[in-house]
Amino acid sequence: MKNIAVFTSGGDASGMNACIRAIVRAGLQKGLKVFGIYNGYEGMIEGKIVALDSSFVEHIIHRGGTVLKSARSKRFLTVDGRKQAYDQLKAKGIEGVIAIGGDGTFKGAAEFYKEHGIPFVGLPGTIDNDLFGTDITIGYDTAINTAMEAIDKVRDTASSHGRLFFVEVMGRDVGYIALGSGIASGAEDIFIPETHTDLEQVYENLKNCPQKDSYIIVVSEGDEAGNVKDISAAFKQAHPEYDIRFLVLGHLLRGGNPTAGDRILASRLGIEAVNALISDNHNVMIGWQKGNFSYTPLEKAVKHHIDINKELLDILKTLSY
Ligand code: F6P
Repeated sequence: MKNIAVFTSGGDASGMNACIRAIVRAGLQKGLKVFGIYNGYEGMIEGKIVALDSSFVEHIIHRGGTVLKSARSKRFLTVDGRKQAYDQLKAKGIEGVIAIGGDGTFKGAAEFYKEHGIPFVGLPGTIDNDLFGTDITIGYDTAINTAMEAIDKVRDTASSHGRLFFVEVMGRDVGYIALGSGIASGAEDIFIPETHTDLEQVYENLKNCPQKDSYIIVVSEGDEAGNVKDISAAFKQAHPEYDIRFLVLGHLLRGGNPTAGDRILASRLGIEAVNALISDNHNVMIGWQKGNFSYTPLEKAVKHHIDINKELLDILKTLSY
């Protein structure tokens, strides 16, 4: 293998740049030519593919977002779109591709490999931490630290006014961001898609700890109870004695300088992805599990969602009141 390419796809996540840097530098050191594909699968289809040198990745380890840009591509979902992408890769002589993204990214990669046989290695890059085959994804640690800092600030004003706040965080299908940031900020409760949300039970819990000067409930955007605006209105109507405010953290969680943890994870996975490509360990997502690399077939990484970590959920429940 002489020519490889890297791209980022789906929602950006802090640490993607650190990962691109690792792939470019590790690839060059192995004597490979390393290409960058701009705008994810869209750029692959359009041939936005350029050779990268070491200076391209200089001083990007600390920057959020992705210097290769990202996109969600509808065209790559089609047979024609994938054929166009294949022609573009072929034209550049690219023999292996590293995709940094989430399960939509890997689904596309698995299809593409079946049709065109170009080897892929996937790396988990999403703030949601929702991929089977890895304990942690690139971007998650930064996202929960950002959420924690924001919730700490909310706590100051909540305590001063004796208020109940509902704080919404990202996490379309899973509650990991709510869980991690909820534990770290000492939230009174979290609402996540993996567990049933019962507003009356929450009311009972709050009523039974009147010594508290404020309450913060972290709500995952995918929760069955709905968004924080609607939850706040419903709660206020049932229990007007509470002074309630809400806040949506949203895309704030996707940006910012990556934490040291995300930079190290991204660097580690990036180097291993290059090693995997050149040693014929293909069509796997490389993750990090129990202190070791893990290799999950791309198809499996896309088909299974992980359950919420029960031990972490217990920590939150034990310590919240
Ligand atoms: O996939 C990551 C994620 O952050 C989800 O938690 C969220 O629902 C989604 O991206 C939002 O993506 P966008 O608004 O960029 O399409």
